[in-house]
Amino acid sequence: MAFLFLLLLLLSISASSLSSLLAASPSFQTLQTNTHFFNPKLPPNSLSSSKKFEGSSDFVNLRYHMGPVLSSSPINIYLIWYGKWSVSQKLLIKDFLLSISPSHPRRAPPSPSVSQWWQTVSLYTDQTGANVSRNVVIAGEHSDIHHSHGTDLTRLSIQNVIATAVRSAPFPVDHRNGMFLVLTSQDVTMQDFCRAVCGFHYFTFPSMVGYTLPYAWVGHSGKQCPEQCAYPFAVPAYMAGGGPSALSPPNKDVALDGMISVIGHELAEVASNPLVNAWYAGEDPTAPTEIGDLCEGLYGTGGGGGYIGQVMRDGEGRTFNVNGRNRRKFLLQWLWSPVLKACAGPNALD
Ligand SMILES: *[C@@H]1O[C@H](CO)[C@@H](O)[C@H](O)[C@H]1NC(C)=O
Repeated sequence: MAFLFLLLLLLSISASSLSSLLAASPSFQTLQTNTHFFNPKLPPNSLSSSKKFEGSSDFVNLRYHMGPVLSSSPINIYLIWYGKWSVSQKLLIKDFLLSISPSHPRRAPPSPSVSQWWQTVSLYTDQTGANVSRNVVIAGEHSDIHHSHGTDLTRLSIQNVIATAVRSAPFPVDHRNGMFLVLTSQDVTMQDFCRAVCGFHYFTFPSMVGYTLPYAWVGHSGKQCPEQCAYPFAVPAYMAGGGPSALSPPNKDVALDGMISVIGHELAEVASNPLVNAWYAGEDPTAPTEIGDLCEGLYGTGGGGGYIGQVMRDGEGRTFNVNGRNRRKFLLQWLWSPVLKACAGPNALD
């Protein structure tokens, strides 16, 4: 019932945004010598679920279901690289993860920053009043370059990948602070990847991994479906020719820059809903609408209806909305704020 309603809403918004594509063109405003704000209109991400909410709505009823959040500090990420990953790819993703924690004021990246973006996540609390931790570290890493469980994974077999990493690395049993982040290379397919998901999160089963700990998975979409999972750096092919073109990725890597926004989405959801019994909207816990889902496709003020919102563009035309460590820039989707009851990000203009 709700699903059909949402689908109809989604279809009507897509139709109207297609017709206005013809009229729209990006506008530019000079801020500094080489950074511009702009708000390009793009064909919607075909996977995006946000079109049903578009920023803020009384219709959204995000509720707390009494479960824990990741409140112990720091959040220890155990990172699993499945398949082949280059050193530079790993450094880029690790720079993003390590940009989440606030740094010393003298070394902090300029505002808006990744750690300011995570402040929205740390507004979520559990029933004891404990907030999601503001600190995230990489506590361990494992590389599984030979695909120990093949190149065709499922939502269940990913737990075998985690179990192998836990034994091989080995990772400690970290019930207090731990979570797993599994990243699969571009030759690895995953059940529902590209058709329904670009990433997901859940928790491990004692029967498979030995204990229960939250995990997130995100895949490299480069060869499979960049127009779904590296949006807005790749846009749906049916719009090619005449339509607005994809944005230039901040780190010159369509798939990796797209993955980083998906990783951000999944980490925000793991932290606020680690055992899928804390913060989500909707009545069905098997298909929860979480704090990232509510804002998919929104990256700045004035987003919605095919607009991604006001983001920045550097002198080389690369698009971003936050700064990170090592002078990196990233484009991260906004997240639902329980305080503003709207999608929020640190690059908001109001
Ligand atoms: C903790 O969450 C509450 C409720 O959202 C918020 O008012 C407070 O600022 C948060 N504290 C931190 C340190 O983020």
